Amino acid sequence: MGAGPTIAVVGAGAMGGQIAYQAALHGYDVRLISRSEDRLRDASTASSALLRRRVEKGTLDSDACEAALARVSLGSAFEAVAGAETIIESVAEDRDIKCEVYGRICSHAHDTAIIGTNSSTLPCSLLEVAVTHPERFLNIHFFNPALLMALVEVVPGPRTAETTIVRAMDFARAIGKTPVRLAREEYGFIANRILFIAIQEAMRLVEAGYTSVEDCDLAVRKALGWPMGPFQLSDLVGLDVVEAILDEGLRQTGDRRWEPVELLRDLVARGKLGNKTGEGFFTTGSV
Ligand code: 3HC
Repeated sequence: MGAGPTIAVVGAGAMGGQIAYQAALHGYDVRLISRSEDRLRDASTASSALLRRRVEKGTLDSDACEAALARVSLGSAFEAVAGAETIIESVAEDRDIKCEVYGRICSHAHDTAIIGTNSSTLPCSLLEVAVTHPERFLNIHFFNPALLMALVEVVPGPRTAETTIVRAMDFARAIGKTPVRLAREEYGFIANRILFIAIQEAMRLVEAGYTSVEDCDLAVRKALGWPMGPFQLSDLVGLDVVEAILDEGLRQTGDRRWEPVELLRDLVARGKLGNKTGEGFFTTGSV
């Protein structure tokens, strides 16, 4: 381990893994923590392959790449959060699981550490009961794929201190991201609030038979300039995740616009979850 600033990322799924390697690329020593050795290994393998491909394409220096990979240490022990100035939690979108994880984090975290949850659906005010210092707790929300997507939303709760918000904004910039700060909590924050209502409209058009999945994606890419259409993007995010975000939106806001359409419910019920299962709206074969 070098002498760089240290962060801990708890949760080594698709998001946590890439957040960890993004920070390592920008000089941070990173402790990536998961209770699952398989997840740690998969996160390391996937991000290492992506970064080494950058080297092959000439967009990343080989020494810088290997140095970044060496800065990430993998493990299951929460003691590893002790030296971190910033701790990012990116475990399952489940309040009980997150709260249990905060208990473990808080018993080892340094006195001045800030904790950012990468949750897209649970604002920190719904989770702060489980942290010892709510003034040093907030949402720091990344986008998928986190090694590529520039935006980070910084969302304070009512008890988050101003210094914590400033540190979170600085941290996002220090790892090469563009942070935006929300004034207060709102379901979906900015990007998901717009994105998921748009995805719902796309699904309603297809469900009602006005167009096909393919043509709808083509129209949105060519007319609105999205890099992926709403259906391809839903497959990338995971249809179970899309459904959960919509369900939670309905639950928290009572606004029927969030209510998932049958087309989506049906695919999820049949285990067609998008890229991760090889089939969703499209067949990708990439299980
Ligand atoms: N993870 C990491 N890198 C990936 C990737 C992934 N899942 N998919 C593709 N890439 C990399 C490729 O390796 C390639 O890298 P290289 O240039 O170093 O070789 C680069 O991205 C370009 O890949 P492609 O040419 O195959 O594909 P694109 O040009 O279409 O770019 C994309 C891929 C950046 C994912 C682009 O399609 C995009 O921006 N899509 C929209 C993504 C988006 O909107 N994300 C937000 C989702 S919502 C969310 O995350 C919120 C959460 O709360 C649910």
